[in-house]
Amino acid sequence: STHFEVKNVALQNGDRLKVKGVILPDAQRFQIDLGRDKDDLALHFNPRFHDDIDGAVLVCNSKTAGCWGDEKREVYNPLERGTDVKIVLKLEGDMFEVELPDGYEVNFPNRVGMDVINFVRVTGDFKLTSFKIC
Ligand code: GAL
Repeated sequence: STHFEVKNVALQNGDRLKVKGVILPDAQRFQIDLGRDKDDLALHFNPRFHDDIDGAVLVCNSKTAGCWGDEKREVYNPLERGTDVKIVLKLEGDMFEVELPDGYEVNFPNRVGMDVINFVRVTGDFKLTSFKIC
């Protein structure tokens, strides 16, 4: 599994982040976090495969000063364990758009109003193979 962090990026409106990798065959969950640091996240994008309540679900949240906000859940998770995936994350105005391999797009508001993303983390049951800002 991967624990990948970058702390010196400057992702702004219109920028896209491409994350490629393999979802581990026995994955429970992984996450892609965008923010200022680990305690201040504008987007926590967290696919789960065996959530206690919803099973396969896409969980999104934000974190402010170490405290989670209100979770947004899409009880739909097209990601398949054991597959190669490309996930594209975009900051578009005051929304984050997360494009999944089947073309499905998850939207999450930039509700903490973070204009610049300095911190990116990819961690969990995922093997990162490529990370690109474009
Ligand atoms: C918690 C979980 C965190 C994060 C958060 C999102 O239950 O422990 O890792 O996913 O939910 O709301």
